[in-house]
Amino acid sequence: MGARRQTECEELMTLSTTSTTVNFSAVPDETGRFGPYGGKYVPETLMPALDELEEAYLNARIDKEFMAELAHLQHTYVGRPTPLTYARRLSEELGGAQIYLKREDLAHSGAHKINNALGQALLMKRKMGKTRIVAETGAGQHGVATATAAALLGIGCIVYMGTVDMERQKPNVFRMQLLGTEVRAVDSGSQTLKDAINEAIRDWVTNVETTHYLLGSALGPHPYPAMVRDFQSIIGLEAHSQMQDPAEGGPGRLPDAIVACVGGGSNAIGIFHPFLEEESVRLIGVEAGGHGIEDGAHAARFADPERGRLGVLQGTKSYVLQDSDGQIALTHSISAGLDYASVGPEHAWLRDVGRSEYTYCTDTQTLEGFKALCELEGIIPALESAHAIGYVLELAPQMAKDQVILVNLSGRGDKDLGTVMQTIGGDS
Ligand SMILES: Cc1ncc(COP(=O)(O)O)c(C=O)c1O
Repeated sequence: MGARRQTECEELMTLSTTSTTVNFSAVPDETGRFGPYGGKYVPETLMPALDELEEAYLNARIDKEFMAELAHLQHTYVGRPTPLTYARRLSEELGGAQIYLKREDLAHSGAHKINNALGQALLMKRKMGKTRIVAETGAGQHGVATATAAALLGIGCIVYMGTVDMERQKPNVFRMQLLGTEVRAVDSGSQTLKDAINEAIRDWVTNVETTHYLLGSALGPHPYPAMVRDFQSIIGLEAHSQMQDPAEGGPGRLPDAIVACVGGGSNAIGIFHPFLEEESVRLIGVEAGGHGIEDGAHAARFADPERGRLGVLQGTKSYVLQDSDGQIALTHSISAGLDYASVGPEHAWLRDVGRSEYTYCTDTQTLEGFKALCELEGIIPALESAHAIGYVLELAPQMAKDQVILVNLSGRGDKDLGTVMQTIGGDS
């Protein structure tokens, strides 16, 4: 580990977690703001659709029948609760904190994305008079989750995907097609997630009467960041009780730190949220460090003091990687799902109020995390999730053996085998 990273880790270790005066349930406010972040920056034509979505969602949250149907599907179809696994060999190898994994990789369709996709698809089916779903995807996991929910509920579905991402996530493109979804290639801009979101929004604006935009992360205009967070909070709710229950595989106590990768921020906010009031638990988000911050080829919105600045992208105000003219910067990550120029507004706010901390993992560190989990635990993680593991390789040895880290293992790595094979070779 380099000296700079050592210092950064030490700084993070000494940060006090939270100020007791912060009221976490007060955000977002009625205009969809998390402090200065969030909001609704959309064309006038979409305002009624956002109002309709908010009304449907608020209504569904207090509708016992809706919530019971969702809980039933989460249990019988998604396979929830997902287990908690003690990573014994990884913990021993690192010689520090005990490491536990929340196994979202074992959720149906292979990642946490199904929690939100199923919630929104059911909302559309039961509460909104719409017949068609559009979605964007980066790693393809949200696309697969949306295609899965659409097939289950009998809803027509179109997924927009950048051509660069289609190439690196080929198996997921085929999966979506098998599930009856049309995948539309996007070859504008950097041909990744940002461009796919642009096209999905364009389709939504044109077909707003019939179409629901099933956004895949805690991003976009209000009410998406709060709604996606709530659908993903099941991860943290389950983990909160599993950690305290040895019969559920937990250590019988809360963790000292929770580590999750941050693309748009949905798996991280999902596991963080039910722990916000637990002041002893550090919440650490790991962004994509790509080739390194100095190199400029990364997607670490918080770590780049020059290019990561307040801005508006795709309906929400947050930290956005941009050049000096405010043009959106090109990003890079080995993992398609973290390769995005902005970050969910609630993360920006939680960071401001000192409740969560953010660091990054380079592509190289990520591959080390990926290999470690494969070889020591028999688990092939998604490259997105491997960012969290990559950071734990640094963090765990700095903590005591009686301390505990909980990692959100957001997805499984089948989709990434091609990328990993190209990078480290099939027989290494
Ligand atoms: C497995 C996995 N983890 C994490 C992410 C990042 O998204 P988010 O930050 O919304 O959890 C993705 C995105 O596609 C993903 O597929």
